[in-house]
Amino acid sequence: MRNRTFLFAQAIAGAVALSASAVQADIQYPVNNPQPKEGQYVHVPPTMEDLEKTEFHPELKRVIRRGYDLFMNTQQLRGKNVFNSMNCSSCHMGEGRLPFAGPVWPAAVILPNYRPKNDHVNNLEERIAGCFSFSMNGQPPEYGSDDMIALAAYHQWLAKGVPIYSSGKNMYGRGYPKLAEPEQKMDYQRGKKVYEENCMICHSSDGSGLVQNGKEIFPAVWGDRSYNWGAGITRHFTLSSFVKHNMPLGQPNTLTDQQAWDVAYYINSHERPQEPRYTGDVKETREKYLDTFHVHTNYGLKVEGRLLGDHKNTGEKDFLKPDVLRPRTYTAD
Ligand code: HEC
Ligand code: HEC
Repeated sequence: MRNRTFLFAQAIAGAVALSASAVQADIQYPVNNPQPKEGQYVHVPPTMEDLEKTEFHPELKRVIRRGYDLFMNTQQLRGKNVFNSMNCSSCHMGEGRLPFAGPVWPAAVILPNYRPKNDHVNNLEERIAGCFSFSMNGQPPEYGSDDMIALAAYHQWLAKGVPIYSSGKNMYGRGYPKLAEPEQKMDYQRGKKVYEENCMICHSSDGSGLVQNGKEIFPAVWGDRSYNWGAGITRHFTLSSFVKHNMPLGQPNTLTDQQAWDVAYYINSHERPQEPRYTGDVKETREKYLDTFHVHTNYGLKVEGRLLGDHKNTGEKDFLKPDVLRPRTYTAD
C-alpha cells in the first residue's frame, strides 16, 4: 500500500505552489497540466493562510473556516446529508482550488444563471445542493442553514477578486476539460487492465475503496458507497478527464488519453445507486434526460450482458429523490 498521507501532501503542496506562483510572471503548474491558452482567464484562488491575513470580521473568518472544514471533511455529515464515502474534496482536488480538478470558484461568479440539467435559473446554494443530491448520493443542508451558508462562503472566498457574472466559457482549467476524442472506441477489457494495474491498489477490486478503523481512506468508484447514476462524473468525458488529470493519486497525467477513456468506460460499466430522477423505468429515464445528460453515460444500456441502472437500489439512503430537486418557474412578471 502506498503512503496516502505523503501523496495527499503532494497534492496540497501542488495547490500551495500554484498560489505562490501567482506573484511570479511564469506560472508553473505542478502536475503537468496544459498551460493556459492565449486569452484564457486565469485565477489563482487564495488559500486559508491568506484568509488569516485579511481584515475580514473574525466572525466571517470563522464561517469561511467552517465551510472549508465541511468541504474537506464532508463525512461529518454522513447519514444526514451524505450517504456515500465522498468528501467534496474527493473530486474537487487541492481544496477545490486546482485547475483541471473541478475548481469550485467559477460557480460563485457565474451564478445565478440558467442550467440545462434542471432547466431553470440556479444560484450558488442550488449548485452546491446538486452535488449533494448526485455526487454525495444525499440530501443537501437546507438553503440558508448554517452549513449551507458556510459552504457558500468558502466558495465565494476562493473566487475573491473575480468579476461577478463572468462568462464561464474561457476560464482556464474549469471543471474537467474534455480530452480529445479517443482514437479507438472505449473498451471494457482494456479499461479493466488499466484499472487492475493502476487503481485497484487503492480503490479495491470491487470498486468499494478502503475503510480503515471506520475511517474512509479511499473513496468508492462504484457500488453502494459511490455517487449515483445522476452524478456529472458518470459521463464518460467527465470521468476520463478527471482520471487523466488527477489519478493515480500523486501521479497525474501519467496515463495516455486512451487509457483514461478506457478506464472511465470500465468504471462506468458497473452498478451504483439509482438516479434520483428515476421514473420507475430505466429506459424511460434515460430517454427523458438523454440529450442533456445520459447520451454521455452507460445508464440504461446493456454492457457485458447487464442492463445498467435497472433496479430500485438507492444505496445507503432510504429515499430516492431529495425534496430540493424540483422543477421551478419564476413568476416575477
Ligand atoms: C463524485 C465527484 C464529485 C463530488 C464528490 C462533488 N462534486 Fe461537485 N462537481 C462534480 C462534477 C463532475 C462537476 C461538474 C464539472 C463540469 O461541469 O465539468 C461538479 C461541479 C461543482 C460545482 C460547479 C463548478 C463550476 O465550475 O461551476 C460546484 C460549486 C461543486 N461541484 C461543489 C461541490 C460541493 C460543495 C461538493 C460537496 C458537497 C461537491 N461538489 C462534491 C463532481 C463532484
Ligand atoms: C494512491 C491511492 C490511489 C490510486 C492509486 C488511485 N486513486 Fe483514485 N482516489 C484516491 C483518493 C485518496 C481520492 C480522493 C481524493 C482525495 O481525497 O485527495 C481518489 C479519488 C478518485 C475518484 C473520485 C472519487 C470517487 O471515488 O469516485 C475517482 C473516479 C478515482 N479516484 C479514480 C481512480 C482511477 C481510475 C485510478 C487509476 C487510474 C485511481 N483513482 C488511482 C486514491 C487513489
